[in-house]
Amino acid sequence: MAETNILSGKVVSDAVYAALEDRIKALSDNHSAVPGLAAVIIGEDPASEVYVRNKTRRFRNMNLHSETIRLPEETSQEELLSTIRTLNHDPVFHGILVQLPLPKHIDTDVVINAIIPEKDVDGFHPENLGRLTAGKPRFIPCTPKGIMRILEHSHIDPSGKHAVVLGRSNIVGRPMSILLSQKQAYSNATTTICHSGTSDLRVITKQADILVAALGAPEMIDDSYIKEDVIIIDVGINRVPDDSEKGYKLVGDVNFDSVQGIAQSITPVPGGVGPMTIAMLVENTVEAAESLYA
Ligand code: GUN
Repeated sequence: MAETNILSGKVVSDAVYAALEDRIKALSDNHSAVPGLAAVIIGEDPASEVYVRNKTRRFRNMNLHSETIRLPEETSQEELLSTIRTLNHDPVFHGILVQLPLPKHIDTDVVINAIIPEKDVDGFHPENLGRLTAGKPRFIPCTPKGIMRILEHSHIDPSGKHAVVLGRSNIVGRPMSILLSQKQAYSNATTTICHSGTSDLRVITKQADILVAALGAPEMIDDSYIKEDVIIIDVGINRVPDDSEKGYKLVGDVNFDSVQGIAQSITPVPGGVGPMTIAMLVENTVEAAESLYA
Protein backbone atom coordinates (compact mmCIF):
# COMPACT_ATOMS: atom_id res chain seq x y z
CA MET A 1 0.00 0.00 0.00
CA ALA A 2 1.46 3.39 -1.01
CA GLU A 3 2.13 5.83 1.79
CA THR A 4 -0.19 8.83 2.10
CA ASN A 5 1.54 12.10 1.23
CA ILE A 6 1.34 14.95 3.78
CA LEU A 7 0.39 18.35 2.34
CA SER A 8 2.08 20.80 4.72
CA GLY A 9 0.42 24.19 5.02
CA LYS A 10 3.43 25.34 7.00
CA VAL A 11 5.70 24.90 3.94
CA VAL A 12 3.26 26.63 1.57
CA SER A 13 2.60 29.50 4.00
CA ASP A 14 6.36 30.12 4.35
CA ALA A 15 6.52 30.48 0.55
CA VAL A 16 3.60 32.97 0.70
CA TYR A 17 5.37 35.07 3.36
CA ALA A 18 8.61 35.06 1.36
CA ALA A 19 6.72 36.27 -1.73
CA LEU A 20 5.03 39.05 0.28
CA GLU A 21 8.32 40.54 1.54
CA ASP A 22 8.99 42.50 -1.69
CA ARG A 23 5.43 43.81 -1.84
CA ILE A 24 5.58 44.98 1.77
CA LYS A 25 8.93 46.67 1.10
CA ALA A 26 7.55 48.43 -2.00
CA LEU A 27 4.62 49.80 0.03
CA SER A 28 7.07 51.10 2.61
CA ASP A 29 9.62 52.52 0.14
CA ASN A 30 7.16 54.10 -2.30
CA HIS A 31 4.32 55.17 -0.05
CA SER A 32 5.61 54.95 3.56
CA ALA A 33 2.67 52.59 4.08
CA VAL A 34 2.53 49.70 6.54
CA PRO A 35 -0.37 47.28 6.02
CA GLY A 36 -2.54 47.32 9.15
CA LEU A 37 -5.17 44.98 10.53
CA ALA A 38 -7.79 45.63 13.21
CA ALA A 39 -8.93 42.37 14.81
CA VAL A 40 -12.11 42.63 16.86
CA ILE A 41 -12.90 39.90 19.37
CA ILE A 42 -16.04 39.80 21.47
CA GLY A 43 -16.31 37.69 24.59
CA GLU A 44 -13.88 35.05 25.83
CA ASP A 45 -14.18 32.01 23.60
CA PRO A 46 -10.80 30.28 24.16
CA ALA A 47 -10.53 28.99 20.57
CA SER A 48 -11.24 32.46 19.13
CA GLU A 49 -8.60 33.89 21.49
CA VAL A 50 -6.02 31.48 20.08
CA TYR A 51 -6.97 32.21 16.45
CA VAL A 52 -6.77 35.98 16.90
CA ARG A 53 -3.50 35.72 18.83
CA ASN A 54 -1.96 33.59 16.06
CA LYS A 55 -3.11 36.06 13.40
CA THR A 56 -1.82 39.19 15.17
CA ARG A 57 1.45 37.45 16.10
CA ARG A 58 2.11 36.80 12.43
CA PHE A 59 1.45 40.46 11.58
CA ARG A 60 4.02 41.45 14.23
CA ASN A 61 6.57 38.93 12.89
CA MET A 62 6.21 40.46 9.43
CA ASN A 63 6.66 44.00 10.89
CA LEU A 64 3.09 44.83 9.93
CA HIS A 65 0.67 46.77 12.07
CA SER A 66 -2.09 45.03 13.98
CA GLU A 67 -4.30 45.90 16.88
CA THR A 68 -6.71 43.69 18.76
CA ILE A 69 -9.90 45.34 19.97
CA ARG A 70 -11.35 43.31 22.83
CA LEU A 71 -14.97 43.84 23.71
CA PRO A 72 -16.86 42.15 26.55
CA GLU A 73 -19.40 39.39 25.88
CA GLU A 74 -22.29 41.72 26.79
CA THR A 75 -21.34 44.36 24.17
CA SER A 76 -24.49 45.48 22.35
CA GLN A 77 -24.82 45.19 18.61
CA GLU A 78 -24.99 48.99 18.36
CA GLU A 79 -21.71 49.35 20.31
CA LEU A 80 -20.03 46.86 18.01
CA LEU A 81 -21.35 48.66 14.91
CA SER A 82 -20.06 51.93 16.29
CA THR A 83 -16.58 50.39 16.76
CA ILE A 84 -16.65 49.13 13.17
CA ARG A 85 -17.65 52.55 11.83
CA THR A 86 -14.67 54.10 13.61
CA LEU A 87 -12.33 51.45 12.15
CA ASN A 88 -13.83 51.96 8.67
CA HIS A 89 -12.60 55.56 8.78
CA ASP A 90 -9.21 54.95 10.41
CA PRO A 91 -6.49 55.06 7.71
CA VAL A 92 -4.08 53.05 9.89
CA PHE A 93 -6.19 49.94 9.24
CA HIS A 94 -6.38 48.52 5.72
CA GLY A 95 -8.20 45.42 6.95
CA ILE A 96 -10.86 44.79 9.58
CA LEU A 97 -11.58 41.34 10.95
CA VAL A 98 -14.39 40.50 13.36
CA GLN A 99 -13.68 37.07 14.77
CA LEU A 100 -16.63 34.68 14.46
CA PRO A 101 -18.72 33.26 15.99
CA LEU A 102 -20.34 36.25 17.70
CA PRO A 103 -22.48 36.08 20.86
CA LYS A 104 -26.08 35.06 20.16
CA HIS A 105 -27.58 38.52 20.79
CA ILE A 106 -25.60 39.94 17.85
CA ASP A 107 -26.72 39.50 14.23
CA THR A 108 -23.61 38.36 12.34
CA ASP A 109 -24.93 39.48 8.94
CA VAL A 110 -25.58 43.02 10.15
CA VAL A 111 -22.06 43.21 11.57
CA ILE A 112 -20.39 41.89 8.42
CA ASN A 113 -22.44 44.28 6.27
CA ALA A 114 -21.15 47.19 8.37
CA ILE A 115 -17.50 46.61 7.41
CA ILE A 116 -16.70 48.58 4.24
CA PRO A 117 -16.03 46.03 1.50
CA GLU A 118 -12.63 47.63 0.75
CA LYS A 119 -11.44 46.63 4.26
CA ASP A 120 -13.24 43.27 4.44
CA VAL A 121 -10.08 41.16 4.28
CA ASP A 122 -12.05 38.09 5.42
CA GLY A 123 -14.05 38.33 2.18
CA PHE A 124 -17.35 37.77 4.03
CA HIS A 125 -19.21 40.94 2.94
CA PRO A 126 -22.01 40.14 0.44
CA GLU A 127 -20.39 42.47 -2.09
CA ASN A 128 -17.16 40.50 -1.91
CA LEU A 129 -18.94 37.12 -1.95
CA GLY A 130 -20.97 38.37 -4.94
CA ARG A 131 -17.84 39.44 -6.78
CA LEU A 132 -16.28 36.04 -6.11
CA THR A 133 -19.38 34.30 -7.42
CA ALA A 134 -19.33 36.50 -10.55
CA GLY A 135 -15.68 35.57 -11.19
CA LYS A 136 -14.42 39.09 -10.36
CA PRO A 137 -13.08 38.63 -6.82
CA ARG A 138 -11.77 41.38 -4.56
CA PHE A 139 -10.98 39.57 -1.31
CA ILE A 140 -11.35 35.79 -1.31
CA PRO A 141 -12.19 34.20 2.09
CA CYS A 142 -8.89 33.16 3.64
CA THR A 143 -9.44 29.45 4.31
CA PRO A 144 -10.69 28.44 0.84
CA LYS A 145 -8.13 30.74 -0.80
CA GLY A 146 -5.41 29.03 1.21
CA ILE A 147 -6.67 25.59 0.22
CA MET A 148 -6.50 26.51 -3.49
CA ARG A 149 -2.93 27.67 -2.88
CA ILE A 150 -1.99 24.34 -1.25
CA LEU A 151 -3.36 22.46 -4.26
CA GLU A 152 -1.49 24.65 -6.75
CA HIS A 153 1.76 24.55 -4.78
CA SER A 154 1.47 20.74 -4.65
CA HIS A 155 0.75 20.53 -8.42
CA ILE A 156 -2.65 19.02 -7.76
CA ASP A 157 -4.82 20.28 -10.64
CA PRO A 158 -8.54 19.93 -9.82
CA SER A 159 -9.49 20.26 -13.52
CA GLY A 160 -11.83 17.46 -14.56
CA LYS A 161 -11.77 15.92 -11.08
CA HIS A 162 -14.79 15.45 -8.84
CA ALA A 163 -14.37 17.70 -5.81
CA VAL A 164 -16.73 17.03 -2.91
CA VAL A 165 -17.04 19.77 -0.29
CA LEU A 166 -18.53 18.83 3.08
CA GLY A 167 -20.08 21.94 4.63
CA ARG A 168 -21.91 24.97 3.20
CA SER A 169 -20.81 27.84 5.44
CA ASN A 170 -20.08 31.28 3.96
CA ILE A 171 -16.64 31.03 5.57
CA VAL A 172 -15.45 27.81 3.96
CA GLY A 173 -17.81 25.43 2.13
CA ARG A 174 -19.71 27.81 -0.13
CA PRO A 175 -16.73 29.88 -1.36
CA MET A 176 -14.67 26.68 -1.62
CA SER A 177 -17.16 25.17 -4.05
CA ILE A 178 -17.14 28.38 -6.13
CA LEU A 179 -13.35 28.46 -6.31
CA LEU A 180 -13.08 24.79 -7.26
CA SER A 181 -15.60 25.12 -10.10
CA GLN A 182 -14.22 28.32 -11.71
CA LYS A 183 -13.25 28.08 -15.37
CA GLN A 184 -9.55 28.76 -14.92
CA ALA A 185 -6.21 27.10 -14.31
CA TYR A 186 -5.94 24.99 -11.17
CA SER A 187 -9.71 24.95 -10.76
CA ASN A 188 -12.36 23.66 -13.22
CA ALA A 189 -13.49 20.74 -11.05
CA THR A 190 -16.91 19.12 -11.06
CA THR A 191 -18.08 20.18 -7.63
CA THR A 192 -20.61 18.77 -5.17
CA ILE A 193 -21.55 20.35 -1.84
CA CYS A 194 -22.79 18.07 0.92
CA HIS A 195 -24.29 19.27 4.19
CA SER A 196 -26.36 18.18 7.17
CA GLY A 197 -29.34 17.57 4.85
CA THR A 198 -27.44 15.19 2.57
CA SER A 199 -28.71 11.62 2.55
CA ASP A 200 -26.35 8.71 1.82
CA LEU A 201 -23.26 10.85 2.39
CA ARG A 202 -20.87 7.94 1.78
CA VAL A 203 -22.32 7.31 -1.68
CA ILE A 204 -21.16 10.80 -2.65
CA THR A 205 -17.90 11.03 -0.70
CA LYS A 206 -16.74 7.73 -2.19
CA GLN A 207 -16.88 9.40 -5.61
CA ALA A 208 -14.58 12.23 -4.53
CA ASP A 209 -11.19 12.69 -6.17
CA ILE A 210 -10.73 15.70 -3.88
CA LEU A 211 -12.55 15.74 -0.55
CA VAL A 212 -12.73 18.95 1.49
CA ALA A 213 -13.98 18.28 5.01
CA ALA A 214 -15.35 21.39 6.75
CA LEU A 215 -18.04 19.92 8.98
CA GLY A 216 -16.78 20.62 12.49
CA ALA A 217 -17.26 16.95 13.44
CA PRO A 218 -14.16 15.53 15.16
CA GLU A 219 -12.57 12.65 13.18
CA MET A 220 -15.88 11.79 11.51
CA ILE A 221 -14.45 11.01 8.08
CA ASP A 222 -12.75 7.63 8.18
CA ASP A 223 -11.83 4.98 5.62
CA SER A 224 -15.50 4.06 5.12
CA TYR A 225 -16.12 7.45 3.41
CA ILE A 226 -13.35 7.45 0.84
CA LYS A 227 -12.05 5.75 -2.26
CA GLU A 228 -8.42 4.93 -2.90
CA ASP A 229 -6.11 7.78 -3.95
CA VAL A 230 -8.43 10.59 -2.86
CA ILE A 231 -6.81 13.90 -1.96
CA ILE A 232 -8.14 15.02 1.42
CA ILE A 233 -8.22 18.60 2.70
CA ASP A 234 -9.07 18.61 6.40
CA VAL A 235 -10.44 22.00 7.50
CA GLY A 236 -11.61 20.89 10.95
CA ILE A 237 -9.92 22.18 14.09
CA ASN A 238 -11.66 20.42 16.97
CA ARG A 239 -10.62 20.30 20.61
CA VAL A 240 -11.07 16.88 22.16
CA PRO A 241 -10.29 16.24 25.85
CA ASP A 242 -7.18 14.21 26.67
CA ASP A 243 -4.72 13.62 29.56
CA SER A 244 -2.20 16.27 28.44
CA GLU A 245 -1.32 19.37 30.46
CA LYS A 246 -3.57 21.49 28.23
CA GLY A 247 -6.41 19.05 28.80
CA TYR A 248 -7.21 18.70 25.10
CA LYS A 249 -5.72 17.89 21.73
CA LEU A 250 -6.56 19.25 18.29
CA VAL A 251 -8.03 16.88 15.74
CA GLY A 252 -9.49 17.45 12.31
CA ASP A 253 -12.77 16.31 10.78
CA VAL A 254 -10.85 13.36 9.32
CA ASN A 255 -9.62 10.31 11.20
CA PHE A 256 -6.02 10.73 10.10
CA ASP A 257 -4.87 7.21 11.02
CA SER A 258 -7.84 5.51 9.42
CA VAL A 259 -7.20 6.97 5.94
CA GLN A 260 -3.44 6.29 5.91
CA GLY A 261 -2.36 4.19 2.96
CA ILE A 262 -5.72 4.73 1.23
CA ALA A 263 -5.74 8.48 0.56
CA GLN A 264 -3.13 9.76 -1.88
CA SER A 265 -2.56 12.97 0.13
CA ILE A 266 -3.91 14.71 3.22
CA THR A 267 -3.47 18.02 5.04
CA PRO A 268 -2.56 17.38 8.70
CA VAL A 269 -4.21 19.01 11.74
CA PRO A 270 -2.51 21.06 13.01
CA GLY A 271 -0.08 22.31 10.34
CA GLY A 272 -2.29 21.98 7.25
CA VAL A 273 -5.06 24.43 6.41
CA GLY A 274 -4.67 26.54 9.61
CA PRO A 275 -1.34 28.21 8.69
CA MET A 276 -2.74 28.98 5.23
CA THR A 277 -5.75 30.85 6.64
CA ILE A 278 -3.36 33.18 8.44
CA ALA A 279 -1.08 33.58 5.40
CA MET A 280 -4.05 34.53 3.21
CA LEU A 281 -5.22 37.07 5.79
CA VAL A 282 -1.79 38.72 5.61
CA GLU A 283 -1.90 38.57 1.80
CA ASN A 284 -5.40 40.08 1.65
CA THR A 285 -4.34 42.90 4.00
CA VAL A 286 -1.29 43.64 1.85
CA GLU A 287 -3.63 43.68 -1.19
CA ALA A 288 -5.97 46.08 0.64
CA ALA A 289 -3.07 48.45 1.27
CA GLU A 290 -1.81 48.15 -2.32
CA SER A 291 -5.24 48.90 -3.74
CA LEU A 292 -5.02 52.42 -2.26
CA TYR A 293 -2.12 53.19 -4.60
CA ALA A 294 -3.12 51.21 -7.70
N1 GUN B 1 -14.02 32.06 12.59
C1 GUN B 1 -13.57 30.92 12.02
N2 GUN B 1 -12.85 31.17 10.93
C2 GUN B 1 -12.82 32.51 10.78
C3 GUN B 1 -12.21 33.37 9.83
O1 GUN B 1 -11.55 32.96 8.86
N3 GUN B 1 -12.40 34.70 10.04
C4 GUN B 1 -13.13 35.19 11.07
N4 GUN B 1 -13.28 36.50 11.17
N5 GUN B 1 -13.71 34.41 11.98
C5 GUN B 1 -13.54 33.07 11.82
